[in-house]
Amino acid sequence: MPTTLITGASRGIGLEFARQYLAAGWTVHAGARDPDGAALLQALSGPYLHIHRLDVADRGGIAALADKLAGQPIDLLINNAGMWLGPEEGYGRFSDAQWMEEFHVHVMGTMAMCEAFVDHVAASRDRRIVQISSGNGSLGWADNGSDFPYNTSKAALNMITRSMAIDLAPRGIVAVCFTPGFVATDMSGPVADLTPEESVSDMRALIDTLGPRHSGTFLRHNGASVPW
Ligand SMILES: NC(=O)c1ccc[n+]([C@@H]2O[C@H](COP(=O)([O-])OP(=O)(O)OC[C@H]3O[C@@H](n4cnc5c(N)ncnc54)[C@H](OP(=O)(O)O)[C@@H]3O)[C@@H](O)[C@H]2O)c1
Repeated sequence: MPTTLITGASRGIGLEFARQYLAAGWTVHAGARDPDGAALLQALSGPYLHIHRLDVADRGGIAALADKLAGQPIDLLINNAGMWLGPEEGYGRFSDAQWMEEFHVHVMGTMAMCEAFVDHVAASRDRRIVQISSGNGSLGWADNGSDFPYNTSKAALNMITRSMAIDLAPRGIVAVCFTPGFVATDMSGPVADLTPEESVSDMRALIDTLGPRHSGTFLRHNGASVPW
């Protein structure tokens, strides 16, 4: 069965990806900043679940995990880890340090993951990289203010993905951005359009269809195209 590596798998959408891929019989490498505190992830258990300490803002830790998994093909890298500071992201309310923190997670962290694991992905059968971006990163959809660190860092995530899709095409790697929809998690709160189960189920079905023509695109969880 295929193998996936998921960042931010302690809760929310990342946890649900881990749960569904395990149920489908995949080998799941689940990254969590604090594995001991990730009770919901630990509760999944099973012989095909491997939980790793992974903070995507820590390049050294990313490199160490890539070394640990050297020689193991990874069919699907899901860069899911994300953060949102809430009302602190409003106009005139956030510091440069907070802005940088979000760039470290969404942009530099994702780039570091893609660079560190490119050989693992290239060695796999499916060779897919999925970035969990956000509709908030779409300039075409932007119709309300606020959330400056979140929106700009997700827009930058989209740009690096568009660029790496070109750079990685010769290795047969497909790199795409998804927006998962408005999903009920700790980040968005309990009242939302979709449950994690629904969003991840849709995204898994979409992932199964991904081929070279999708690389460098920005897609909704249901496969509809999102304007940049
Ligand atoms: N929920 C939505 O409606 C929605 C909409 C659009 C996009 N998204 C995107 O979907 C992704 C998942 O969000 P969610 O809704 O599941 O949020 P969530 O429930 O708040 O979960 C966020 C996850 O990211 C992890 N994380 C944060 N910083 C990290 C770091 N430096 N290194 C590694 N992991 C880190 C968290 O780990 P800890 O447990 O250690 O904090 C947690 O596992 C994010 O990229 C988010 O931007 C969500």
